[in-house]
Amino acid sequence: MPVITQVLVLNGPNLGRLGIREPEIYGSVSFDALADLCRSTGRALGLHVDVRQTDDEREMISWVHEAADARMPVVINPAAFTHYSYALRDALAMRTAPLVEVHISNPAARESFRHTSVVAAVADGTVAGFGLVSYQLALQAIAGLVAKQAEQAEQAKQDEQAGP
Ligand code: DQA
Repeated sequence: MPVITQVLVLNGPNLGRLGIREPEIYGSVSFDALADLCRSTGRALGLHVDVRQTDDEREMISWVHEAADARMPVVINPAAFTHYSYALRDALAMRTAPLVEVHISNPAARESFRHTSVVAAVADGTVAGFGLVSYQLALQAIAGLVAKQAEQAEQAKQDEQAGP
């Protein structure tokens, strides 16, 4: 039976307003449609995707703790928290599974305050600037990282069985 990996896709402040928020930057697709896209992309990759959004830093951090406790991979668009939340960065640093940072726009090509990500250094990598496709690429990256981990665990088991 195939193993289904649970993945959290976490979204920070103002992303619940996708579709009406600055459509020239973030597009005209709603958050619900993004959530559907993430779930269907996940299904095709053998991932069960749970998509959440909050405007509240405390709630976001509690989801990151939940993921760490459950050894769940995370795709996160921290939105504006990206640029200043050391509390979120510290929570993400406790991760126990793959972590990919994602952005719809390309923050490096925007205002200077967006050029710093305080979370990037604790993630496996960042996907930015491809619109909603950024999420699909991030989920592909998660699937690859999970498969690699499983291979390494299998190899370690075989090495142990083979003995010295
Ligand atoms: C964003 C980029 C951030 O700078 C901004 O604060 C957001 C969205 C993006 O997805 O492009 O809210 O994370």
